[in-house]
Amino acid sequence: MTAVNATSALAEVAGARRGVSMRTTVGIIGAGPAGLLLARLLHNAGIDSVVLESRDRAYVEQRQRAGILEQGTVDVLRAAGAGERMDREGLRHDGIELRFARRRHRIDFPALTGGRSVTVYAQTEVCKDLIALQLQEGGPLLFGAEALAVEGAGTDRPRVRFRREGHGGQEGQEGQEGREGREEVLECSYVVGCDGFWGVARKAIPEKLVQVFERTYPFGWLGILADVPPSHDELVYARHDRGFALLSMRSPAVSRLYLQVPEGTDAGTWSDGKVWDELERRFETADGWRLRRGPVTAKSVTPMRSHVHEPMRYGRLFLAGDAAHIVPPTGAKGLNLAVGDVVTFARALAHLRETGSGELLDAYSGTCLRRVWQAERFSYEMTAMLHRAPGATPFEDRIQLARLERLASSRAAAQDLAEGYTGFALE
Ligand code: APR
Ligand code: PHB
Repeated sequence: MTAVNATSALAEVAGARRGVSMRTTVGIIGAGPAGLLLARLLHNAGIDSVVLESRDRAYVEQRQRAGILEQGTVDVLRAAGAGERMDREGLRHDGIELRFARRRHRIDFPALTGGRSVTVYAQTEVCKDLIALQLQEGGPLLFGAEALAVEGAGTDRPRVRFRREGHGGQEGQEGQEGREGREEVLECSYVVGCDGFWGVARKAIPEKLVQVFERTYPFGWLGILADVPPSHDELVYARHDRGFALLSMRSPAVSRLYLQVPEGTDAGTWSDGKVWDELERRFETADGWRLRRGPVTAKSVTPMRSHVHEPMRYGRLFLAGDAAHIVPPTGAKGLNLAVGDVVTFARALAHLRETGSGELLDAYSGTCLRRVWQAERFSYEMTAMLHRAPGATPFEDRIQLARLERLASSRAAAQDLAEGYTGFALE
C-alpha cells in the first residue's frame, strides 16, 4: 500500500526526464521516529523531502518500543507541531524507583536536575502522530517502498534505488516480479539513512572509512503488555539475584513489564503465569508491595546490544537513529537519540540554506557522536548495575549493591543518573 499526496506526482514528472522517477532535496530512508520526525522538521523549514518505508503503515504504527520521552524530545515534538495528543495523553513522570535488596529508593528528577522530568508516551503513538501530519501536509511518504541501495553518496546528486510493492510491474506480470514492481530511482541533494539497525544506507559508506563499536550482552528482555493498571505510578527498575525486572506502562490501564532472560530465550517457553510469578519474586520488597496481574496481550523477547557506527556521514549521505547506533533499552535512550540526530541534521541544512555555510553539516557526525557516546555510557552503566550476568561472582554482586547504595545515599551519584535519564542537552 502506498500513501502519497499531490506533490509526489509532480516529483515523478520532474524526474522522469532524467531516467529517475522522483526528485527531492532530502531523500529519507525509513519511517520510524527518526525518518518521520526529520520529514516534519524539514517541512517546517520549507525543505522538501521524500520518505521511503519498506513496510506498511500498520507495521510501523504497531511496532512496540520504549515510550520514555526526555524533556528535550517533548520540547522538539511540541515545537514541530506534533505534540498536541502527547500533551493530552502523555504521562509526565518526575522520578523512577530503584529496587534492590528488598528496598525501594526513589530518584527525584526535578530536585536533582533543576526541574526536568520525562513523559511516558509510546513510540507507536509518536509515529502515528507524525504519519498523520506527514500525510495531511507533508511531502511524499511511500509505504511498501524498499530502498535497495544508495548510490553517488560522494557526489552532489546522490540517488536511492528503490522498489515499490505492486508499482509499475510489467503489464500483466504475475507472481513476485509483479508484486515487487519495477526498480525506481529517487534523485536527491542529500540522503538521510533512518533505516534502522539492518538498513542499507550505511553500506554506501566505504568500509575503509568505517569503524563499528559493538557489545552483545549475555541476556535479553522478555517483555509483556498486560491489560491491568500499573502497580506503581512511576517506573520501577529492580536489581535481584534472580535477574533484572522493570515495571513500565503505556497508559493508566495498560502495564508494560520486562524481565531479564538468558540471550536466545524463546518467549513461547514462558507461560503468562510463569512470567507473573517471576516478576513478583524480582519486585519483592520488605514492605509487602503487591504486583497486580491481568490478561497478557503481547509477549516478546528483545536482544540486548550496544552498537555505534562511525562516522555518521559520508559526502551527501547522513545516518540518523538506529541506523547509526543501538543502545540497550535500560536507559530508554533509543528514540531520544534518534530525535537528537535529526534535529542536528535539520538545523544544519537550514543553516546552510540561510547562510551558505556548511559548517554545521560538516560537524554533524562529531556533534551527534558526542551525544551518542554519553547515552551509550549511561545505558551501559545502568545495564551493568541492574542486570545479573550469567556466572556473576559474589564480588560482582556486592559491587552492584554498592553502586545502588551509593545512588541511594549520595546526591551527586543520584544527580548523574537523573541527568542521564532525563536527557543530555542538544549542542
Ligand atoms: N528501505 C526502506 N525502509 C527501510 C529499509 C529499507 N531498505 N530498511 C529498514 N527500513 C525501515 C524499517 O521498516 C523501519 O520502519 O526503517 C525504519 C527504521 O525505524 P527504527 O528501526 O524505528 O529506527 P529509528 O527511526 O532510528 O528509531 C529508533 O526505534 O527501534 C527503535 O529502539 C529504537 O526507539 C528506537 C527507535
Ligand atoms: C518501556 O516502557 O517500554 C520502557 C521504559 C523504560 C525503559 C525501557 C523500556 O528503560
